[in-house]
Amino acid sequence: MAKSILRLTVNGSRREDAVSANMLLVDYLREVAGLTGTKIGCDGGECGACTVLVDGRPRLSCISLAHACAGQRVETVEGCASDGRMSAVQRGFHEKLGSQCGYCTPGMIMAASGLLRRNPHPTEAEIREALSGNICRCTGYVKIIEAVQAAAKEATP
Ligand code: FES
Ligand code: FES
Repeated sequence: MAKSILRLTVNGSRREDAVSANMLLVDYLREVAGLTGTKIGCDGGECGACTVLVDGRPRLSCISLAHACAGQRVETVEGCASDGRMSAVQRGFHEKLGSQCGYCTPGMIMAASGLLRRNPHPTEAEIREALSGNICRCTGYVKIIEAVQAAAKEATP
């Protein structure tokens, strides 16, 4: 398929790449941008492992076209840390043992980051709702909820 120029921002850096009209955002991020933190865990739209933020809102990158994000700000797990310091959500997962095999973790972190931006003080029910599209086969979710709660607490002034 013919390629056309895609312009967007990924983790704060402007990019310009020749991309096929049918390329999925997850493939663009992994194969073109070289950001393999975003994972593929299912045949499409069912597990949340591929969650990224687009203009600050969680989006499943496995069912989004890269070109649909033209002119938008895409954030992946690689963009969470700054100056070598983990984000509050990353620290929460680290300290509360919210990650075991880690395959779901990038998507969980991005979904949780999107939640805390729009709702810095979520209830447990709101956290569960925000992460309801993200499947974890290891943790039983309790540690993940605690991780997000710890991040919300840390970010409280
Ligand atoms: S890989 Fe996108 S929802 Fe599973
Ligand atoms: S930590 Fe293994 S799938 Fe969630």
